[in-house]
Amino acid sequence: MAKPDTGEQSVPHVPVLLAEVLDALAPLPGSHIVDGTFGAGGYSRALLEAGAAVTAIDRDPSVRRFADALSAEFPSRFNFVAGAFAELDQLVSGPADGVVLDIGVSSMQLDEADRGFSFMREGPLDMRMAGQGESAADLVNTLDETDLANLLFAYGEERKSRRIAHSIVAARAAQPIATTIELARLIEKAIGRKPGDAHPATRSFQALRIAVNDEFGQLVEGLFASERLLQENGRLAIVTFHSLEDRIAKRFFDPDKGGPAQSRHLPQTATEALRWKAAKAVKPSAEEIARNPRSRSAILRAGTRSADPARAISYAGLGVPRFRGAA
Ligand SMILES: C[S@@+](CC[C@H](N)C(=O)[O-])C[C@H]1O[C@@H](n2cnc3c(N)ncnc32)[C@H](O)[C@@H]1O
Repeated sequence: MAKPDTGEQSVPHVPVLLAEVLDALAPLPGSHIVDGTFGAGGYSRALLEAGAAVTAIDRDPSVRRFADALSAEFPSRFNFVAGAFAELDQLVSGPADGVVLDIGVSSMQLDEADRGFSFMREGPLDMRMAGQGESAADLVNTLDETDLANLLFAYGEERKSRRIAHSIVAARAAQPIATTIELARLIEKAIGRKPGDAHPATRSFQALRIAVNDEFGQLVEGLFASERLLQENGRLAIVTFHSLEDRIAKRFFDPDKGGPAQSRHLPQTATEALRWKAAKAVKPSAEEIARNPRSRSAILRAGTRSADPARAISYAGLGVPRFRGAA
């Protein structure tokens, strides 16, 4: 997530950590790789150019134009499926040698004011990647003050969450909050702004976006769906933009770091922790950050699958933040 909005004009998404992702997936001619977050197709294109067949998934219908262009160029090796990567093992047919997930919003989503992702661009308070379900405006105007504060704290790590929630509830009593700038100004007024600091609405917008799109749920389900889909020696690469997401990826690969609890009905064997051979986390170089400031918080984690059967899905031990009914 959290590709910070740096105010650039709308241009197709610049792929982040591209060389490192290719290195992690090691695509071979004839291999089949799933790109679970197609976006503008930067990873898909590079994988196709390396000779792999690619099935790409995205839940945002507006990426279709990029997918159509790749289909025309690689008609026999590229296939696009609209949907959510949480279900990737149902959306993709055939075994796969690799899966890549580049979590979060694309530059196109951030830069298009009408999508409502950016606190710097006037637009409806929407933030729905798939254009369906509850919008950010629905959450902001209907959650009670405690849930709203807990959401901003748990998903945005916003320490001034209670003050912001209080201001939102006071403001919406007069009339519903409808636009991005309206919310951004309200937050700025509630908690102030220090010169040199990130915009005071940064964390709240992140929290709302994660909630609207169930990004943590999608990540957990997508990781387990990849484990089901991939065969032995299959590679999984995940690029995250936020420490809360990186923690989930890290613990998924290495249950010893607090990962999914084993079922008490299954024997505990030494191989349980060996389902994935995880590589060291990789961050962008200074050169990449200078060229593409939106890459600056990216972290790549990758692993290679063992032959062990896939685990039952479990949120336990992954450190997934919760804002309602948190334990
Ligand atoms: C960071 S962009 C990917 C950019 C891509 N790697 C590229 O090089 O152009 C993330 C994309 O994933 C999509 N996305 C996010 N969560 C998703 C989910 N749960 N299922 C399917 N697509 C998702 C977004 O709509 C967005 O287009």
